[in-house]
Amino acid sequence: MKIGSLALDNNILLAPLAGISNLPFRLLAKEAGCGLVYSEMVSANGLVRQSKKTEQLLDSLPQEKPLAVQIFGSDPAVMADAAKIVEDNGADMVDINFGCSVKKIIKTGSGVALMKRPNLCEAVLKAVRKAVRIPLTIKMRAGWDKSGEQAFALAKIAEACGIDGIAVHPRTATQGFAGHADWSIIAAVKGRVSIPVIGNGDIFSAEDAVQMQADTGCDAMMIGRKAIGSPWIFAQVLAKMRGAKTSSVDLEHRFAIIKRYLHRSVKYIGEGQACRIMRSRLCWFVKGLPNASQFRRSINHISSESQAMDLIDDYHQKLMQEEERYN
Ligand SMILES: Cc1cc2nc3c(=O)[nH]c(=O)nc-3n(C[C@H](O)[C@H](O)[C@H](O)COP(=O)(O)O)c2cc1C
Repeated sequence: MKIGSLALDNNILLAPLAGISNLPFRLLAKEAGCGLVYSEMVSANGLVRQSKKTEQLLDSLPQEKPLAVQIFGSDPAVMADAAKIVEDNGADMVDINFGCSVKKIIKTGSGVALMKRPNLCEAVLKAVRKAVRIPLTIKMRAGWDKSGEQAFALAKIAEACGIDGIAVHPRTATQGFAGHADWSIIAAVKGRVSIPVIGNGDIFSAEDAVQMQADTGCDAMMIGRKAIGSPWIFAQVLAKMRGAKTSSVDLEHRFAIIKRYLHRSVKYIGEGQACRIMRSRLCWFVKGLPNASQFRRSINHISSESQAMDLIDDYHQKLMQEEERYN
């Protein structure tokens, strides 16, 4: 599929995930076959002010390409400047956040707060469109009520402004992650515009992804939470779409991924910080495995890469012995 001039290998996308979809994580998604990875949301203000911490979020490697970088903010001029910085930095696509419902973001008038102000949305979109040549997309929620009317209005504005695609997470601004994503809103947006529509929300299996496309007619499917502890979901969805049998990830592959993630995180953010983050992060990767709670307790104390690797190998070994015993 294509988003504007950007041709993708496939239409299964990694959602922007603040605090998670950094470079080491995006590489895992890419290695599992993901067609397009998104950065975590990046502050437009931070980029324009040249904050080092914000700029670091733009770090990328050729292996993860194509890369979409998502920016948030509400000032049209700042958003345009930030988008230009993103483009100059080598990103393949810019995405604008119209969906974040975290209080801190809403208070600044950014994220889903913008959906209440269609005129400002239009000003932001026009300014950013003028500033960059690379494909430009938006990601939005259903709006502030269940009707989806704000999403339909924003979709029309976006199309008129020359935006190349729209990702829809059909929950309301106040819903957080409660209840279900209302996929009928994805279908309704798809019916109203002729640019690509990316469906997002509650894809937890390969079957869900196929079902979303069948139910909504969306052009691409974007996966967020399920990818966090299971980046192999992309390979499973692609297999399902090819009509192949989807199998669960085997131990060898799962533990190789865990170790790669840890090692790259150490390289990318430094051993101390990587170990602190990995204490919780690695636990997601072993969800559902026997004796996972014991592993979680031990990994909770890691302070070096080698210590973590030993614990990971140890747990892997024990699981393999157990598998042999039962096979
Ligand atoms: C930890 C976390 C961080 C997120 N960060 C972002 C973000 O930076 N930008 C954004 O547009 N959405 C963000 N989201 C929302 C996801 O991109 C996605 O829309 C949502 O999780 C629904 O998809 P899912 O059901 O596949 O998880 C975040 C969600 C989670 C759980």
